[in-house]
Amino acid sequence: MLYFLMSKYQSVRGTRDLLPDVKQMFRRIDEIAYKTAKNYGFKEIETPIFEFSEVFHRSLGETSDAVAKETYTFTDRGGDSITLRPEGTAGVARSFVSEGLAQLVPLKLYYCGPMFRYERPQKGRYRQFSQFGVEILGLESPLADVECLDLAWTIIKKLNLAEKCILEINTLGDAESRNSYRTALVEYLKPFYEKLSSDSKIRFEKNPMRILDSKDESDKKIVAGAPIMENFLNESSKKFFNDVLAGLKQLNIPYKVNPQLVRGLDYYCHTVFEFTTTELGAQGAVLSGGRYDGLVEMLGGPKTAGVGFAAGVDRLADLCAAGLALSPRAPVSVLALGEKALVEAVKIASLLRNQDKYCEVFLTGNLKKKLEKANKLGTEKAILIFEQESGTFEYKLKNFGSGEEITGTLESILKAID
Ligand code: HAM
Repeated sequence: MLYFLMSKYQSVRGTRDLLPDVKQMFRRIDEIAYKTAKNYGFKEIETPIFEFSEVFHRSLGETSDAVAKETYTFTDRGGDSITLRPEGTAGVARSFVSEGLAQLVPLKLYYCGPMFRYERPQKGRYRQFSQFGVEILGLESPLADVECLDLAWTIIKKLNLAEKCILEINTLGDAESRNSYRTALVEYLKPFYEKLSSDSKIRFEKNPMRILDSKDESDKKIVAGAPIMENFLNESSKKFFNDVLAGLKQLNIPYKVNPQLVRGLDYYCHTVFEFTTTELGAQGAVLSGGRYDGLVEMLGGPKTAGVGFAAGVDRLADLCAAGLALSPRAPVSVLALGEKALVEAVKIASLLRNQDKYCEVFLTGNLKKKLEKANKLGTEKAILIFEQESGTFEYKLKNFGSGEEITGTLESILKAID
């Protein structure tokens, strides 16, 4: 019966079950990313999935979409306002402050896990999605940005996605540069105020630079003629950006400067970047990040530089679907004929699994069916167990490649499997 059509229980809109094949891909992506990050000196951290709402309001900014429209916020039974994390950076910065990690700088941290945003679901955009990300805390040098970008690019190459992704990069400059740019932008936008979308009217009052990021078509036309940040950078901001770009050139990391790139979260300064692809429709950003030197201070900590990125694992998995070899492990299969032989098979399988071997034992079906199943799983070697009239067992080692079967003692067969 098609029970799934009859069930009134579906996963919540924008969420999905990661069935084994997809979940395997997610795990593999996390493994590759984490292994690579470890080579760059990053250590793993896990922060809670929910925080006091204030952590995100202060970090991401009241006008960021992530906070204004997309958070899952609720009052818990103790009366506290709680938010499911929409991203990982704010939680890491909060942890940096509340755990007193300032004395350990420079700190290089890696994380991976689910994030929650109440966005309109579409391909590549979910309400629960997974990110892996890295944060470097306590390094002011533009070479820290370069190191982050190098790590991102290495992971993308390891996932065989270099051909499909391009790095877009921009600078927001330091506070002084941003202030003079903001003034010029407001002057430019004033005459267009009535034509701006309702969201952008609010941004105009609170954070006009976010209008550059608007997805509204009429806003986009207005923004096309806006002054560009580059012309408002002071000397030190210019030097910072040029140093980042020079580092990318040294490391042969291809990039495109995109002056319209401002990013959706308020905590950024200086470098902002996105690795984008044209292969995922509207949701083209697969990995994004930037520098956030003021964030830790905003959360009540000491002045601490920060730079990092996060990648959307769901999007990477979609992109990888065909290209990433998942290197399936071939099991040792244990096949038994007869009820007692089956118990013996379970015992032998347990022995092999205790030695860290991937082992499959088949509990149902006749021998022919079991051989077919073992073959389907890519078995190279199988142990066949036959019950004898005397109550003892006969053991055979079957090589699936050559079709050869050798009878022997259990010890000799286990040895041959090693
Ligand atoms: P973000 O650009 O908001 O940055 O998200 C990073 C990545 O998460 C995006 O490039 C995208 O691949 C993925 N992503 C975002 N929203 C969704 C969604 N609804 N469904 C599926 N994937 C999504 C941040 O989160 C910053 N914390 C990155 C960062 C770290 N900056 C500095 N350090």
